[in-house]
Amino acid sequence: MLEFNKVYNVDSDEFMLELIKAGVTFDLILTDPPYNLHKDFGNDSDCLDIPDFLRENRSRIEKCAQLLKPNGSLLWFGIHNYIGYLQTIMYEAGLYYRRMNIWHYDNGFTRSKRMPAHTFEPFLWFSKSDRKWTYNADDVRVPYKSAERLKNPVYYKGKNGERKVWTPNPNGALRGDIWDFPTLAGSLYKKERTDHPTQKPESLITELIKAYCPKDKDGLYCGTIFDPFHGSGTLGICCEKLNRDGHRIQWIGSEIESKWCRVANKRLEALG
Ligand SMILES: C[S@@+](CC[C@H](N)C(=O)[O-])C[C@H]1O[C@@H](n2cnc3c(N)ncnc32)[C@H](O)[C@@H]1O
Repeated sequence: MLEFNKVYNVDSDEFMLELIKAGVTFDLILTDPPYNLHKDFGNDSDCLDIPDFLRENRSRIEKCAQLLKPNGSLLWFGIHNYIGYLQTIMYEAGLYYRRMNIWHYDNGFTRSKRMPAHTFEPFLWFSKSDRKWTYNADDVRVPYKSAERLKNPVYYKGKNGERKVWTPNPNGALRGDIWDFPTLAGSLYKKERTDHPTQKPESLITELIKAYCPKDKDGLYCGTIFDPFHGSGTLGICCEKLNRDGHRIQWIGSEIESKWCRVANKRLEALG
């Protein structure tokens, strides 16, 4: 029996096979795997030649496809260099394209003058079904960009051609596919930062959980979420913080390096 809400110190390539054999499935697989940018995670998982990178990712994406519930979704972070390859693999794995989202930030760190500075990382959203999936649009509304537009009535045509007046939603505008959240660079985020070289900000991951986690009839998040490349444990922390507000998310994270599992468990302990 799989125990939820904990970190597994395992090789996810093997662990996912065990989960498939055991018939486990998830509402959401939200993961940030090695981008192949030669980051030092304590292993060589980010330093593959392209054929190995593709072989490994194909096998992982195919396993993830089997681990999704019928209405489940896969959210997969990547980098512009290789995201096209991964998108092709997802189509070939029989998943359905929903959107290429962009994580955009203005506070990245760069010294190179040979190219534009990095300001985004794409993340792909594919669903298991072409008809049904979870996207809680109202949970992730954003402030309207311009108050100017709200000063005068805005008219639009209704279904039968009648003139209707548009009124702004008090909770803000529908979010677009560019998700603006700062990276953890700089002294402002020192408290949140661990030693992990590619730790994702809790602000971004929490927003994604709110958008993509199924809810119960009382509006509480209650889905099952898996992060097979859990690193310093951001996914688990964000789920647990929501659970402390009364939600009932069941999550698991798996990570090959014991060092990062220790970091993740320390972060969880610090929540009390
Ligand atoms: C990009 S990092 C994830 C960072 C994470 N999102 C965070 O906020 O800390 C990818 C992680 O995948 C881990 N990893 C690489 N190969 C793995 C494998 N076969 N099984 C499990 N984890 C693996 C690496 O050690 C690294 O910590």
